[in-house]
Amino acid sequence: MTTLLFISRVHDPAPWVAAFRRLDPELRVRIWPDTGPVEAVDAVLAWTPPPGFLASLPNLRLISSFGAGIEHVLGDATLPPSVPVTRIVEERLTRGMSEYVALHVLRHHRKLGLIEANQRAGIWKWLPPADTPRTTVGVMGLGAMGAAAAVQVAQLGFPVLGWSATPKALPGVESFVGEDQRDEFLRLCNILVCLLPLTPATRGILNRSTLGRLPEGAYVINAGRGGHLVEADLLALLDSGHLAGATLDVFAQEPPPPDHPFWRHPKVLMTPHNAADSLPQTVAPQIVDNIRRAMSGQPLINLVDRTRGY
Ligand code: GLV
Repeated sequence: MTTLLFISRVHDPAPWVAAFRRLDPELRVRIWPDTGPVEAVDAVLAWTPPPGFLASLPNLRLISSFGAGIEHVLGDATLPPSVPVTRIVEERLTRGMSEYVALHVLRHHRKLGLIEANQRAGIWKWLPPADTPRTTVGVMGLGAMGAAAAVQVAQLGFPVLGWSATPKALPGVESFVGEDQRDEFLRLCNILVCLLPLTPATRGILNRSTLGRLPEGAYVINAGRGGHLVEADLLALLDSGHLAGATLDVFAQEPPPPDHPFWRHPKVLMTPHNAADSLPQTVAPQIVDNIRRAMSGQPLINLVDRTRGY
């Protein structure tokens, strides 16, 4: 019998166990920390597993992330090098992210935050409608979610630029590549969206220097990872007036501590890491498929390149 160990402090195991049972009644699912004999664990489904723990499972054949991001697993220096790591790429997750990006691009573009604040203050103030063809949206990271979000925003009529490690051909999206073209890309973005994977190369990539290259009055949307953003640098640029606003779905600490300036900052909209979510019924099938593949030595789907980090 194959055993899957479920490791998460934030996901309710019940619907996942039910989904696995429906898909494969033979699969034994254990819920961490009730691991049972460590030798019996064949696969794990993990979200921020305790560092060092995965190395204690001697017969592990597969590590799957709960989501698209995998840095919460790869950051563990003791991770056994030979165990394959997979992540989730899935239509609902991708669509959810495109929806989130479109929503917040339009919110900034139409100055909805300001209009709402004016209403609360009893102010009727006509604001000139923004000019869509003159508002450039830049998307950093063109993986499954970044690519879909960029195409979606282009379909709304915005000029869209994409920045990625390798060239990408996407309809309506001008491709900028690598360090060499980063400054040129940033200089053009009125609204910057970060959907990069978090790797040693992208940690802290949204900082005073990079965000300072955005045009005056630009907006930032971070739905990648909290580790991409140097929060104090963003605050300094918002407070100096260089940046007009930010939407943040991810944070250095989640939730941010109660005294964090983001909570009450008039130019910051915080969302509770819910830009896109993984549902058991849509995600469990690819995990069960990958467990079968791992146990029979077949190629895995959504396999992570561990040296690249995504
Ligand atoms: C969520 O943040 C994910 O990695 O899918």
